[in-house]
Amino acid sequence: MIIYFSGTGNSESVARGLLKEGERIADWTEEISVAADERVGFVFPVYCGDVPKGLIEKIRAVRIDAEYVFAVATAGGNAGHSLNSISYLMKEKGIDLDYGTCLKMPDSCILFPTSAAETSQLLDTESARVNEVAAELDSKKIVRFAPKKPFPFQTKAMWFFFRKVVGRISEKSVDEKCVMCLKCVEGCPVDNIEVRDGKIVFKGKCEDCYRCIQSCPERAIRFGSLTVTDKTHYIHP
Ligand SMILES: Cc1cc2nc3c(=O)[nH]c(=O)nc-3n(C[C@H](O)[C@H](O)[C@H](O)COP(=O)(O)O)c2cc1C
Ligand code: SF4
Ligand code: SF4
Repeated sequence: MIIYFSGTGNSESVARGLLKEGERIADWTEEISVAADERVGFVFPVYCGDVPKGLIEKIRAVRIDAEYVFAVATAGGNAGHSLNSISYLMKEKGIDLDYGTCLKMPDSCILFPTSAAETSQLLDTESARVNEVAAELDSKKIVRFAPKKPFPFQTKAMWFFFRKVVGRISEKSVDEKCVMCLKCVEGCPVDNIEVRDGKIVFKGKCEDCYRCIQSCPERAIRFGSLTVTDKTHYIHP
């Protein structure tokens, strides 16, 4: 079974590329039960050098008794601490993370856009790179990571800098360009966006997946003072 978290589609695409015939796949928000005789894999984006917070909580809540456990991070740069975190979460359950790797993908964050040339190079080579990982998984390759507790000081400091200092991006709003298409409401994986008094409102349980801001057809969503531009727009095709 593959469990994925994806904001702008990179991790979902990688997860689907790794899927074996007949294997189950689940979005991290779904009810999940893992059978003892199946492999289990986590595919997710790296956020501020770590695993998305909501996925950490989900992993802690799921009972895993699998014969082979793997994790594939997708990142604009590198895996940071994230594979150590998954290894730690497995250790909490008394099992090993057997394999981990990171695939470089276009950056979904509007602060650090990947250039157009690199974006097309990364997308052109995606399926070949995913196939390489799939072959390693098929051979049950072992690549271990030292278990380290999620959200160490460096991760917390990165999130603080990122959310509070750079553009105060934790404050989310919608400007007058909104045409009430409700794409953001329907697409938010954690039901964080609703219509109140005829306006789009953010409820305060955001996972910072950037799906809404990157998929708004009118570019009407703001994270702090930042909006999406031609240079920073990215959604996996
Ligand atoms: C809030 C946020 C934080 C991010 N932090 C990092 C990071 O620390 N390191 C990195 O290499 N990429 C970082 N990225 C880029 C994403 O990990 C990368 O684009 C990923 O493939 C997105 O996957 P998705 O399309 O499945 O959401 C960040 C993206 C966002 C939105
Ligand atoms: S996706 Fe954009 S235009 Fe559509 S409702 Fe949300 S903010 Fe408004
Ligand atoms: S509000 Fe936007 S960024 Fe936050 S979880 Fe929902 S879709 Fe993702």
